[in-house]
Formats: sequence, C-alpha cells, structure tokens
Amino acid sequence: MRKALVLLATLVLSAAFAQNSVEIFSWWAGDEGPALEALIKQYETDHPGVEVINATVTGGSGVNARAVLKTRMLGGDPPDSFQVHAGQELIGTWVVADRMEDLTSLFKEQGWLTAFPQGLLDLISTDKGIWSVPVNIHRSNVLWYVPANLEKWGVTVPADWNEFVTTTCPALRSAGVTPLVIGENWTVQHLWESVAVAEMGPDGWRGLWDGSVAFDSPEAQAVWETFDKVLACTNADFTGLSWQQATDRVANGQAAFNVMGDWAAGYMATTLGLEPGTGFAWAASPGTDGVFILLADSFGLPKGAPDRDNALAWLELVGSKKGQDIFNPLKGSISPRLDSDLSKYNAYGKSAAADYQSDTQVGSLVHGAVANETFMSDFATVMETFLSNRDAAEAASLAAELAGRAHIGN
Ligand code: GAL
Repeated sequence: MRKALVLLATLVLSAAFAQNSVEIFSWWAGDEGPALEALIKQYETDHPGVEVINATVTGGSGVNARAVLKTRMLGGDPPDSFQVHAGQELIGTWVVADRMEDLTSLFKEQGWLTAFPQGLLDLISTDKGIWSVPVNIHRSNVLWYVPANLEKWGVTVPADWNEFVTTTCPALRSAGVTPLVIGENWTVQHLWESVAVAEMGPDGWRGLWDGSVAFDSPEAQAVWETFDKVLACTNADFTGLSWQQATDRVANGQAAFNVMGDWAAGYMATTLGLEPGTGFAWAASPGTDGVFILLADSFGLPKGAPDRDNALAWLELVGSKKGQDIFNPLKGSISPRLDSDLSKYNAYGKSAAADYQSDTQVGSLVHGAVANETFMSDFATVMETFLSNRDAAEAASLAAELAGRAHIGN
C-alpha cells in the first residue's frame, strides 16, 4: 500500500513537473551547443521551476533536424519552439501550411518593431503576420584561413575564383596542401552559393529567386562550369566530413582555405580556443567583397505548442538585447538588434557587424533565406548528380526543373 502511494505521489509530481517545462528544438548539439546552452542557462535563471528540454538533432545546417521536425509537425507533435531560418524556410514551408502562430502582438509588446532592422522584419513577415523571433545574423560567404600558414606556403588570399583556380590552387597543390577543404553534401552547396554570387553578382543571384533569371540560363550554367574548376582544388574524401572536421583541417594546416558560414568563427574561437586574427583569419569568399550573403536563425511558436506560455517566455528572451548579447558572441554570429552591445564581440564579430552595415545584402539558399524546404532538400540531389558526372548543362537543367516544381519565383 505504501509503495503504491509513493508511486502515485511520484507520478503526480512528475506530471506536475512535466507540465512546467518547455521543449526547445534545434540542431545546435555538441560542438555547436555552447551559445544555445548559455541562453538556456539564462532562461532557467529567469524562470526557476521551468524545466528546459534541450531537444537537439545533430547535423550541420539542420539537415537531420528539419526531417525530424517535419515528422513531428505533420504528426501533431510539435515542440514548444523550434529553430528555423528566417525567410522562405519559415514562410514558404510552415507559414503557408498554417502551422505557426502570428507573433505580431509579442513584437509590439516588446518594442521589436523598431529594435530590428526593417529588412529582417520583412524576411519573417507576410501580410498576415510576423512568424518567428530572430536570434542572430550569420554570414555565409566567408573564406577562412590561418595567416601564418599562407605565409609559409607563399600564397595570399585570392580576390576571385579565377585567381584561386589559376594561381593559388596550383601553388598549394605543389606545397602538398589541400587548397580548399569541403565536407558533406550541404557544405558543397554552401560553397556553390558563394561561387554563384561571385559569378552572377547580387542582382543575378536575386534574379534566380524572383524568377527573372532562369536556372538554365547561360549565366546560371556558367556558375556550374566555374564550380567544376573550384571542385578540382578540393579534397577527395569530403563526403564523410562534418563542417567542423573541414574547419579543423584549416586550423591544423592540412588545408589552406574553407568557405563556411561564420559559425566557423564561433567554433574556432569558442570551442578550439583560437584567437581571431592570428589563430584564424577571414575574408569575403573570392569575388564577393562588398556582398553579405546573410541568414538568420530564429525561433517560432508552432500552433498547438504544449507549453505555450513557457514558449512565449523563451521567445521573449531570444529576441531581447540581454539574450542576444549572451548568445551571439559565443556563436560567431552578430545580433540583428540595432542596440546590440558590440563591446561584447571579438574582432571577427566586430568586423562582421561593420560589413553587415556597409555591404549589399543577399539571402542564403542553403540556410533558408531564399528558398522553401522543397527546393532546399532536393537541391542536394542536384548537387549529388553534379558531383558524380560534372555535367554543368545537366545540373543547370535539373535545377531549373526543381525551381519549377518548388514554385520558386512565383
Ligand atoms: C546553419 C545555422 C547556423 C549553424 C550552421 C551549421 O544553418 O544557421 O546557426 O548552426 O547551420 O550547423
């Protein structure tokens, strides 16, 4: 009898406890975790008694998390709040499917309509509402290297892909170094978007997404031709490498360069403990100086979130000056808030913040700003085909067919 009572009491208590929780879903696991963990710690301090369930699914750029999220959302089991990229990944996927709550009143109440830049508000809004809370701005088109290594190998940062392919790459090959390290499929797509913006310019790139430039136009096909030459300067064993492992190769001198988003700055500074400027350095990816390929991580509130009030309190922290200045200096990203405290950021963060102000901004494909989930996930197959046959004309026509199927530009 006593045992039964104890069991009953435990069940009641754990049910009560479970009710006071909040599940935050993201792909910021392991090496990618410190910034999110710091934010969660702050939430727990501000809301004692609310248990935060930090539900992560490992895999850079959310390749695995997005698939799990889809199953959960469609199965009627949404997390309380989930990481989603501002832009079409949010709007063209979850908002069109009517799965998100409108957060306009939260934005008004928190004064966020004037705290965030208008361009970013546009990315998370439709005429029916505002659909997520941005936590950061990341830059996609960054070339990473170690200055002392370049000096040792006698090369400099290439200004464009032509210089890289004709001069930098052969010099590094003769020094026995991988010129440019790539990893698993999405990191190859990530490189592709930098090459595409360099070759097509910001207007040409925008044209792909507003439908005014076809994916099988001569200029889009030319991107694949340049990309083919760039790939000839990469490592053969890329398929199994995570982005962190690719970054490691730059940090430890096996490779000279890597094009990766500035979460690599977070990883090198926060996880590897390297000093920005000496332990690692950066430049705009070749041919994209003055252009900022941007993306923003954000958190939304799905309809049917089991712990809605706790989730709203989470979103409040995510969008606050306090929350953003805890998260971003560790993450390698910057805060989009106009009142962000730059003194909290390292040399990389300060330089990204300056570029964000002065550069021409365009949206990232791989990280959800310009294309919906259908295009994003099936573009991996286009890339896979190109990696196996290196046929630029076929890649261009497959991309055009996909754009039609995913209703890009209309
Ligand atoms: C991006 C995300 C970044 C970082 C990166 C690597 O899509 O926006 O915050 O997590 O993937 O996983």
